[in-house]
Amino acid sequence: FYPEASKIGDPENRRLQITRLIAKMPTLGAFAFRHQLGKPYVYPDNRLSYTANFLAMLFKMSEPTYVADERLVHALEVLFILHADHEQNCSTNAVRSVGSSQVDPYSAVAAGVAALYGPLHGGANEAVLAMLKRIGTTDNIGDFIGGVKEGKEKLMGFGHRVYKNYDPRAKIIKAAAHDVLSALGKSDELLDIALKLEEHALSDDYFVSRNLYPNVDFYTGLIYRAMGF
Ligand code: ACO
Repeated sequence: FYPEASKIGDPENRRLQITRLIAKMPTLGAFAFRHQLGKPYVYPDNRLSYTANFLAMLFKMSEPTYVADERLVHALEVLFILHADHEQNCSTNAVRSVGSSQVDPYSAVAAGVAALYGPLHGGANEAVLAMLKRIGTTDNIGDFIGGVKEGKEKLMGFGHRVYKNYDPRAKIIKAAAHDVLSALGKSDELLDIALKLEEHALSDDYFVSRNLYPNVDFYTGLIYRAMGF
């Protein structure tokens, strides 16, 4: 679409590509989501805000205008802002490494998306849901933690390459999980397991001595699940 994107030495041109990337990402994400469900695509609506438009492209059905719940719009905006705080981690590293070849920003960011998808990075939120489902009930938390301490598996959603303390974003996201569930009038048995699991881990020397705290992904999977992803 934009062959001029390869002129990365021109700051104005570079800035334009960044704007386009941010602007088009919701459409790409929403189209992928609808395609996977076999549903027709919903085109962007310029009258809507960035986040309300994204929700409309994801979830609009036959209604003439999709009115997004303001509380969900707010929660998603909080998540977008918190995910912009991204330090020098796996996906940032991938973008910088590929970008150092002086390729266009679309190609560099594609590498970052691929890196982010892995279960030890941005894919951790999905892995957290799978883990919580497997634990099944709060009664099984002790056994699960025992297995983690024996090195059989990891506690997904815990630990961070840079934050060796409680990830400040996790606190905000934990509150957002409660807000989203109450906005939707839902309860989630997996949230109860997650809360107890966090409490259990934070009082266990294995996790404390290794500075392992919940990261941004510990509660985001629950939020996305509640929203219908
Ligand atoms: N569960 C159990 N033990 C863990 C965990 C975990 N989640 N994370 C680290 N450890 C242990 C390691 O086994 C190691 O123990 P050891 O000293 O006895 O060998 C110690 O803690 C230090 O681990 P490192 O591998 O050095 O930690 P590192 O900083 O390299 O890893 C990472 C960070 C990859 C995020 C890791 O904590 C992890 O795999 N977490 C689970 C996946 C996850 O939630 N990823 C999302 C991160 S946030 C994001 O990417 C947006």
